[in-house]
Amino acid sequence: MSDLKSYLKEQIALVDAALDDYLPEAALAPSLVHEAMRYSVFAGGKRLRPILTLAAAEACGGRLEAAMPGACAVEVMHTYSLVHDDLPCMDDDDLRRGRPTSHKVYGEGMAVLIGDALLTEAFAMIASISENDTFTVKDYLKQFAKTGGSCELIGGQVLDLEGEGKTLSHQELIKIHEAKTAALLVCSLRLGGMSAAASDDQLQALTDFGYHLGLAFQVIDDILDVTQSTEVLGKTAGKDEATDKATYPSILGLEESKQEAARLTQQALEALKPLGKKAHRLEQIAHYLLKREM
Ligand code: IPE
Ligand code: IPE
Ligand code: MG
Ligand code: MG
Ligand code: MG
Repeated sequence: MSDLKSYLKEQIALVDAALDDYLPEAALAPSLVHEAMRYSVFAGGKRLRPILTLAAAEACGGRLEAAMPGACAVEVMHTYSLVHDDLPCMDDDDLRRGRPTSHKVYGEGMAVLIGDALLTEAFAMIASISENDTFTVKDYLKQFAKTGGSCELIGGQVLDLEGEGKTLSHQELIKIHEAKTAALLVCSLRLGGMSAAASDDQLQALTDFGYHLGLAFQVIDDILDVTQSTEVLGKTAGKDEATDKATYPSILGLEESKQEAARLTQQALEALKPLGKKAHRLEQIAHYLLKREM
């Protein structure tokens, strides 16, 4: 595990340096928006999605440099989704990544615009990916747009809002988690695979892995909301119950939710098998995420 910890630290440093290069300088006019975009992107965060992109490229025999624009793009799309997720009209959160949320610092209007700007910059990053013999920039853009669109990330956020105060079935909850969370993890992995000119079978393995890992990730996020402190999470604990969200613990109970997370992680690990030994970082990450405390 100490080997994994130092690997994660190294990958985070590489991703942060690349994000710093990609994002407009804070001093660039109009500087308030650029400063605010950087405030949210560089607030910390686990950098899970870009790390998955880089590890997926490695699992398919690719190069880190080829995967990096996609890695940065998924982190920036994720950060935009968090800025908007925290708005008073959405989850109404004051704390994110251990800091006051974007709208608390810059105001609601700015937070909406910062999210819009981040999403747009993310597409520019995708457009800068180098093509290979198998995938063109159009392929990357189609993948990225599908993930961020109304059938996946946004669709999931819509279902999440609609689910507030309702008693949903397990199946309905899975639909929310697939769209709002698993889709972006799948995209992160596929972009890494595509940068390595992955075969259909390799991309399918990454997709199955990301789907199950993504569901497990959101189950654990729901569990931590109930069991962990605000200080450790860097976001307000107990928020899901306060806003009457449909979550795993509220529908299945805490113990069954933990078992579900373990089952989904096992399914994710199974999906990796066709990728062989090169997928060992992805395997380690899946084990690590099941035990995460933040
Ligand atoms: C939070 O994601 C939103 C969910 C999809 C559960 P993360 O837990 O990856 O947040 P950061 O990037 O580490 O802040
Ligand atoms: C967020 O889910 C998923 C997104 C697409 C942003 P949550 O609303 O559970 O994420 P947190 O708990 O605020 O990080
Ligand atoms: Mg939410
Ligand atoms: Mg939220
Ligand atoms: Mg949550």
